[in-house]
Amino acid sequence: MINLNQEPSDMCLSANIYCKQKAAEIDIKRERPYYHLTGVSGWINDPNGFSYYNGKIHLFYQSNPYRNEWGVTYWGHAISDDFVRWEYNGMALAPDTGYDSLGVFSGSAIAFKDKYYLVYTGNSKGMQVQCIAESSDGMSFVKSGFNPVIDASMLPADTSEADFRDPKVWEKDGKVYMIVSARNRTDGWSKLLLYSTCDMNKWYYNGILLSNNSRYGKTLGHMFECPDLFTLGGKEVIIVSPQSVTGHYNGDSNVYIVGSLNYSTSRFEDFDLGNAKEIDRGFDFYAPQTMEMPDGRRIMTAWMATWNRTPVSAHLGLGFAGAMTFPRELSLINGHLYQKPVKEISIYYTDGFSKEINVTDENIYISELDGKAQDITLSFEPVQGKTGISVFDDGMGNGLKVYYLDGRVYLDRTGVTVGYYTRNEEYKITYADAPVGDDGRITIRLLLDKYSCEVFVCNGYSAITSAVIPSEEQEKACLFSDSHVLISIIKSNITVE
Ligand code: FRU
Repeated sequence: MINLNQEPSDMCLSANIYCKQKAAEIDIKRERPYYHLTGVSGWINDPNGFSYYNGKIHLFYQSNPYRNEWGVTYWGHAISDDFVRWEYNGMALAPDTGYDSLGVFSGSAIAFKDKYYLVYTGNSKGMQVQCIAESSDGMSFVKSGFNPVIDASMLPADTSEADFRDPKVWEKDGKVYMIVSARNRTDGWSKLLLYSTCDMNKWYYNGILLSNNSRYGKTLGHMFECPDLFTLGGKEVIIVSPQSVTGHYNGDSNVYIVGSLNYSTSRFEDFDLGNAKEIDRGFDFYAPQTMEMPDGRRIMTAWMATWNRTPVSAHLGLGFAGAMTFPRELSLINGHLYQKPVKEISIYYTDGFSKEINVTDENIYISELDGKAQDITLSFEPVQGKTGISVFDDGMGNGLKVYYLDGRVYLDRTGVTVGYYTRNEEYKITYADAPVGDDGRITIRLLLDKYSCEVFVCNGYSAITSAVIPSEEQEKACLFSDSHVLISIIKSNITVE
């Protein structure tokens, strides 16, 4: 549903009129995923302003509403009660002002002193500045007369004015803090800057929170995009999306760093950049952002794609390009980040099925697992060789294979990636660590939707997200194993009407 009963800027208004018609076409053709959020129409990239305000979950997104490719971005806006069903609220912000004329770039949102604020990067030629927009109802937004609230005059020495973006804000002790990504002018390495304010309009520069350097260049890329910082399990966690990381299938990658923020020195401490770990080991996961629910849960979503690839939906010529991952609840245990789909998914469970199945060396098809919108969990005691499942399968063993082998879970999308290329290479197989549980078992959970599979390994120890292009007939599933094994399987369909 689209709500256009607000008074947006002329550019928002024109985009909304266009999107309304386009969205109707997309919906009539039933092109959207069953339960993953897409833009109302056209291209999306990063999640922005993921937050809870006025009793609702708000998720904004980088949007080029007119095309299936990146362009001068707007902020699209969607609202939900449960992370599953979303209502579009048109465009929240348009690139209609000098300081953001080349894009309303990524940022975050915060409820502070009775108002709701969007905090974003204004992108113009060779210049990136930080800006705010205000709202008193969470539905319509007005850019502040104080914009830009942080400009190049508040940068530390040796910082590029052109790479200063993606503010994430949080409140502590009556102050709002902002972490922003920046880049050294001379050597090109990235750093994270800290700012703070008491009123959202007048901001102060606090210092350099953390710096990348040549030592970690290869593992941590050259520019940290979309930083986030939050407290979890008594520690502070920083998330960044570093560009051009070699050895990660999400070449523009995503990592987390655990440490503690010293507010008096404005430095991030007790961390080791060499220990930064990839959040998701798949092919299609970038720019994750988190929010906190009133019940204290820390929830993360990400753009279910990455740069230098054609999103599946654009590749298929649909009316939209790209989707968000299904939101995940995070926890930090012994310094390790665990992820699991938010529990609200179970509201939409139908057709439950569970069984223990003996599998030997042939594919065992199970008709109850037919379908493309499912939550499936397998668990078993590891045996010699591969043990796993082929989903989006054509009945002849061609599908998306997810299997355990020697301490890892692999995802092989060879059977469901017709024509899907990246950087002139076809990435088909990836893996993540899979530690055996205290009960001696391996668990593999899969969330399937029309064009994607998200895998959660060993109770969320690892995650693997992959876009897929199954054909019409590819909607079966079979279990397989190189050795005899007893697999316990639990499945529900996900039905969102
Ligand atoms: C990350 C990013 C951000 C920027 C936005 C522009 O995907 O490059 O750094 O704000 O996308 O759309």
